[in-house]
Amino acid sequence: MNYEELQNVWAQKYQEVPSQLEKLKRVRSAATAFNTNVDAILKISGKTLKKLILDNHISLADLENITISGFNKPSDVILGIVKCFSRGIAEEWVTDDINVYNWMEENLGYNRLQMGGQAGIIANALALLGVKKVLAHTNSHPKLQAQQFLNLDNLLGFDDEGHLEKAVNISRETDIPLIHWIIEFDKNDSFQIENKVFTCPKSNRFIATYDPLNMKLVMNKEFVNYLNTHKVSYLLLSGFHPLLESNGGLDLVKNAVPVLKKWKKHNSQMIIHLEIASTQDKAIRKAIIDNIAPLADSVGLNERETIDLLNILGKSDLANEIERNTTSDRLFDAILFLKKKLKVKRIQLHMFGLYMTLQDADFVHSAEQNLKGMMTAAVVSSSKAFNGELVHYEDTTKTLGLYVSTQSLNELNNLSHKLNSPELLTTGICNIDDFVLSTIPTILVDKPKTLVGMGDTISSVSLLAGC
Ligand code: GLC
Repeated sequence: MNYEELQNVWAQKYQEVPSQLEKLKRVRSAATAFNTNVDAILKISGKTLKKLILDNHISLADLENITISGFNKPSDVILGIVKCFSRGIAEEWVTDDINVYNWMEENLGYNRLQMGGQAGIIANALALLGVKKVLAHTNSHPKLQAQQFLNLDNLLGFDDEGHLEKAVNISRETDIPLIHWIIEFDKNDSFQIENKVFTCPKSNRFIATYDPLNMKLVMNKEFVNYLNTHKVSYLLLSGFHPLLESNGGLDLVKNAVPVLKKWKKHNSQMIIHLEIASTQDKAIRKAIIDNIAPLADSVGLNERETIDLLNILGKSDLANEIERNTTSDRLFDAILFLKKKLKVKRIQLHMFGLYMTLQDADFVHSAEQNLKGMMTAAVVSSSKAFNGELVHYEDTTKTLGLYVSTQSLNELNNLSHKLNSPELLTTGICNIDDFVLSTIPTILVDKPKTLVGMGDTISSVSLLAGC
């Protein structure tokens, strides 16, 4: 079958999306925890980046050998941007130094504010898609945070008196806003330092985070109690990634275990999804895998996060190979390894152009349903990239009817060759050992207005729309 025929086959399959969107509206409830914050979005050009490099006296040698993965001073922020810009990758670095935050505020500025954090982004998306009741965890909820929530009756949080309230209307006066810098750059943009040209191979973003509450995994008591006493259908979990070993992070991860276990004890039917997120502190990354992943039914991650996990699980050869050639066939090996290692019932990778899920044959949602869930997620997330934001219900299906991209079919092709399964190209499903693989080629938007939060949207919508 040629690519044009394959595009038609997948266009037919994508016609299921509207009915999945209707099913999503029947989902009774979802809670999202723990990290909600405000994102300050800044689009940076090669030209501005060059100016920052020169103004801060950073040498070519510094730029050519970036080994740090966290930041303690302003010039580290610039190194982080350069690292992600020149490799076209996404990373998040954290600092517990307020001076660096102040420097960013004064020297970087931003274009706009929007909802940030896995819990916040997912809550907005699911509530907009019509999940009947969505409860978002916020450890800080001043007016500025409230303004990032969509104005929806089914989107709730806790006010200062501990009452459940429409999230957009809450104003916990004494809370401080938690602002993260999201520095986005465009493919093909470049800058030159001395005789070296740095060109960005793929539009992506670097996140610079100073966030005293999320870095301490501060939990809202009312939220914790609510899940001890009420049942929700899904828990979308994340927010462990900004913790630092040097900041007591290992204990914070461990202390979250009894909280989650108690929720699960009260509500054994609840499906828990863990979004891995960019976790630079290796000890924390390991602690998440050892302590939190075993409590989750489902795990979601992107290609970078996959590499990061391989690196701490004794698979650095495979990690390096994927780093050099980030293709679906190699990533499949990684996901199969992680599925077994993490012992989760379902694991989903979202990479550029392709999503793949490996799940137990008896997972609550069948692989066929999951395939539909992933296509729904591909439409919603590409619509977000196209629009910049999802504010109105109509925004969520802007790309419905577009063909899957040829880049996506290349990845699907790689995977079908690797698995020796030609039917994967047209069905998207095949059995692997005791597991079932479902995979889809996605719709890609040419000039995405934004990329931040894509993974969170993909993971949560895939799972819930796969019902
Ligand atoms: C991380 C960042 C947050 C961002 C989110 C997007 O949680 O801390 O600022 O909104 O990732 O996925």
